Amino acid sequence: MSKYFKALTTSLNNNGKYINRITKRAIGDLPNYELLVKVKYSSLNYKDALSATGIKGVTRDYPHTPGIDAAGVVEESSNTSFPVGTAVIITGYDLGMNTSGGFGQYIRVPSKWAVKCPASLSTKEAMMIGTAGLTAGLSISAIAEKLKLMNLSVIVTGATGGVGSIAVRVLSSLGAKVTAVTGKKEGTSFLKTLGAEKVILRDDFLNSTKFPLNKALYSAAVDVAGGNILSAVLASMKYNSIIAVCGNVAGAKFETSVFPFILRSNSLVGIDSAEASIKTKKNIWNNFANAWRIKNIKSMCKEVDLDDLLPEIHKIIAGKQTGRVLIKL
Ligand SMILES: NC(=O)c1ccc[n+]([C@@H]2O[C@H](COP(=O)([O-])OP(=O)(O)OC[C@H]3O[C@@H](n4cnc5c(N)ncnc54)[C@H](OP(=O)(O)O)[C@@H]3O)[C@@H](O)[C@H]2O)c1
Repeated sequence: MSKYFKALTTSLNNNGKYINRITKRAIGDLPNYELLVKVKYSSLNYKDALSATGIKGVTRDYPHTPGIDAAGVVEESSNTSFPVGTAVIITGYDLGMNTSGGFGQYIRVPSKWAVKCPASLSTKEAMMIGTAGLTAGLSISAIAEKLKLMNLSVIVTGATGGVGSIAVRVLSSLGAKVTAVTGKKEGTSFLKTLGAEKVILRDDFLNSTKFPLNKALYSAAVDVAGGNILSAVLASMKYNSIIAVCGNVAGAKFETSVFPFILRSNSLVGIDSAEASIKTKKNIWNNFANAWRIKNIKSMCKEVDLDDLLPEIHKIIAGKQTGRVLIKL
């Protein structure tokens, strides 16, 4: 086993700026957890870009290797349930936050963070899905707990992004009628390919919404945007709707009234993929390996090496990514 590995490392320079460099790191410097995993693939999520640019609330101490997702093979283990050679997926908990993350060729993690990669899913496919897919999956499960997905009218915001694109694809394949809201004029054909029945431009959606209540149009929502987009979503829901709230790219605050709740009996459901129980994560991964299997998922992803990751980090921060970014370690 090599003593050193390649990683993207974020550090704070003398001018108070966060800089990213490809570095050689020592395996011995990783935390002392049960599993040493040789990372084969990681993926880029919005939170990684926050960590890699020093935005407060994600990572406390630098230098740090971000990457909240990793999939690879156990190389050392002190837990007999995860013998050497086991293919594993690790997403969320503290990985890439304050524990050295998947943007490095090795990680050390507690075994309670690891899910065995289902037999019918490769580590590469798992990372094409990643935390974005897990979050879309948790949102879809929260909706499916209360409502039948077949023919359900569902609105998905931030639809061309990581969470949004997987939500559009899986919901459509399960029979839902998906309306995708996007800020990208050029995103329409991509969203139609994913199965969206209707695509609305973000500004048109906002301009066409009347407050406090709009015409009731949708029975469920997956909202990655928050802010004024969530306000408009809430005004547009039918009676007994479920709104799964999972992101805040448009802002953390939103305005609403009691009317969507007391006149239309709507439910707002919060989604957190990072701290979801390992049992819940296993269930979602099994769904992706079986009933929710995404055919030709490659077409929704761009593959990059660690050396080419930085421009992708800047692009996700600017809200300009389409689909998923897979990172080959
Ligand atoms: N709760 C959880 O567990 C969890 C897990 C993963 C991610 N998240 C959150 O979910 C959000 C999306 O993450 P992601 O990885 O999917 O990021 P992403 O790939 O960058 O997707 C976000 C998409 O939102 C849209 N968008 C960007 N800026 C916007 C703005 N100002 N107003 C409205 N829409 C905007 C864009 O899509 P269009 O151009 O198509 O509109 C963008 O592609 C983030 O806030 C992230 O922190 C939460």
